[in-house]
This record gives sequence, C-alpha cells and structure tokens, in this order.
Amino acid sequence: MAEHLFLRACRREPTERVPVWFMRQAGRYLPEYRAVRAGATFWQMCRTPELACQVTLQPIDRFGFDAAILFSDILVVLPPMGLEVEFPEGGPRLAAPVASAADVERLAVPDPADELPFVMEAVRQIRRGLADRAPLIGFAGAPFTLACYAVEGGGSKNWEKTKRMMFGDPAAFRALLDRLARTVALYLEAQVEAGAQAVQLFDSWAGALAPADFREHALAAARQVFDHLRGSATWARGGGVPIIYFVNGVSPYLDDVTTSGADVLGVDWRADLAEVRRRVGGAMAVQGNLDPLALFAPEDRLRQRVADVLAAAGGAPGHVFNLGHGILPATDPASVQIVVDAVRELSSRG
Ligand code: CP3
Repeated sequence: MAEHLFLRACRREPTERVPVWFMRQAGRYLPEYRAVRAGATFWQMCRTPELACQVTLQPIDRFGFDAAILFSDILVVLPPMGLEVEFPEGGPRLAAPVASAADVERLAVPDPADELPFVMEAVRQIRRGLADRAPLIGFAGAPFTLACYAVEGGGSKNWEKTKRMMFGDPAAFRALLDRLARTVALYLEAQVEAGAQAVQLFDSWAGALAPADFREHALAAARQVFDHLRGSATWARGGGVPIIYFVNGVSPYLDDVTTSGADVLGVDWRADLAEVRRRVGGAMAVQGNLDPLALFAPEDRLRQRVADVLAAAGGAPGHVFNLGHGILPATDPASVQIVVDAVRELSSRG
C-alpha cells in the first residue's frame, strides 16, 4: 500500500488531496468521549491503555480523519520527574511547582519506557485498532511549554513566575529546560519505538516570548529534542518519522523556526498561511490553521473559511489541514464533519 496521505504531505511529496486532522480531536465535544469520561477521571483515562485507545479511535471512526493522535496529555511526563499534577475542574494544578534552582536540581530525567509503560501500551493497542486506516501521531509538550506549567503550577495569562525565573535566574531556567528536553526526547523516542508514525511537539505558550527569548529558550530546547531524535537509532529504524513543531503564536519567529530541525511547522490561526508558505515553505511542510472558533459559524461561512485556508496554503504538496489550536469543547460535531468534507471536496485534484 502507498504511504499514507498525511505522511506524504509531511514529507512535502505530491498527494491527491490535502490531508486533515484536528488538534485535540479526541475530547469533550464528542458525546462518545463524554460517555467514557463519565466513568473515569482524566488521569485514569490517560493511564488505562484500553480507554486511551478507545477514545483515540472515536474521531477516526466518526469522521475518517487522515491521522490519529494518541490520547494522553503533555503533562504526563511531570509526575515521573517528581512533579505531581492534578486535573480539577478548570485545568491542571501542580501541588508543588518548581520555585528555585535547588528544585530544578531535584528533578529526575526518567526513562519513559519504564515510568510511562501505559503510554507505550496505548500506542501498540491503537496501532492494532487502526489497522492502517490512518497513521498514528505521538506527541509531547515542548520543553518551554512544560516549563510554564512546572513553574507556574497551572495555566496563566502572563506566566509571571515563569518569566521571573527566566529573567531572574537564567541558568536555573536553562537547567530546567535541559531536563525537560532530555525527558521529552526519550519519551518521543519510546513512542516511536512502540509504533508512533509521526511525532508532534506542542509549544502552546512559546508565543508569549520576545523573539530573542524565543530563540534562546523555546527554540533551543525544542531543537535539543529534535537533534536527539534524529540522532537516535530508534528514529532511523522507524524510517525517520516526520517531526511536527506546533508553535502557538509563531508569526514573529517564522525565520527562526526553519532552523528547528522539524519537518512540519504547526501554525496558529493568527498567521497568514500564504506568508508562512513563502517564508518557510522551502524548508518545512505547514500544518494549520483554521481558527477553532470558525467552527461556530453557519455552514456556508465555515466552508468559505476552509476554502480561504486552502487557498492561502496554495494547495498540496506540503500542506496538512488542521485547526490553528485545539478544538473547543462547545464545538458541534456536525461542524467538524462540514470541515472534513469541505477539505476533501475542495482540495481534490482531477
Ligand atoms: O489531540 C488529542 O486529541 C490528543 C489528546 C490531548 C489532550 N491534551 C487531551 C486532554 C493533547 C494532544 C493534549 C495536549 C495538551 N494538554 C496541551 C497542548 C495543546 C494545546 O491545547 O495547547 C496542553 C497545553 C495541555 C494541558 C492541559 N490538559 C490543559 C490546559 C487542560 C485543561 C483544559 C482543557 O481543555 O480541559 C488539559 C486537560 C485535557 N487534555 C483534556 C483533554 C481531552 C480535558 C480533560 C477532561 O476530559 O476533563
């Protein structure tokens, strides 16, 4: 069988149409996800391979997305590093965030294959459940975004504690990023070993940085992850699976990200994809970038927005259709179907 559409698009090879998947496609907007979630906590779902597998497959079964993404969370790596995380209503919370250089020194760099075996088992079960209908994307949080949660202890508007450490004790902050980067690199390697066919690094909060700070901290730490992967025998054995770097708020850094070492740039909705393609298209495929709130528009306007994104991207090769950030829980699944159908119709050649 020919290689999957999504994987060919990531490699900027010709495709008969533009592939489509959504960030956070397994989630609360789906009644079948809420049904599973009613019987388990979020952590139980992440830590039970059968449940993670079940909800990963739900959006594939319903919409026929061109890629599946492992159901898990970027924060699963923090407990084995020594940082306990809880998920009360309203988002993640750390009991004891990182506050000092001494706290950073106490953080472990765990072997994820040993410490997170349920993730690797989920990957194996999902591959079996997919039966090659779609490729499976593994993922991790980018070091900077994980550092935001590790230091802040939860979500934040201005990331004050994080930036206080970044500016006040840059050596400690770099040491934190280094430990996170080493952990994430091993974690993605283990996912590839278990069967992940592509990997995505989520840098959800890197857009909070001035360009020089983005280069020095977020980009350097992401590059450390990608360099490790590319140098690993596991990655080579897996055929060199595509590496996707999603940066939420990437516009100020377009020239910098081409040096990241990723194959695909994940782009948020604030950027004009035509400009992104002009500036990074020679070096990377692009993935994005419909505003997740566009799914709240009526059908004709939503279809027009899909057409606009496809036109800005300039067609295949090298475009993967996605949202510019994760799908929101209030989204109507019927709107997701409209987008998937529109991408298929409008991007088909011949
Ligand atoms: O894409 C997928 O379908 C795979 C699953 C996935 C989840 N989280 C499931 C989840 C992925 C890829 C993530 C990544 C993630 N987690 C990110 C990066 C992507 C982004 O959106 O920027 C971040 C920042 C997190 C941290 C996180 N996890 C937050 C801030 C929250 C609370 C906010 C929210 O959406 O509820 C979570 C919880 C979470 N992760 C849920 C899901 C389905 C909701 C938990 C529930 O079911 O109650």
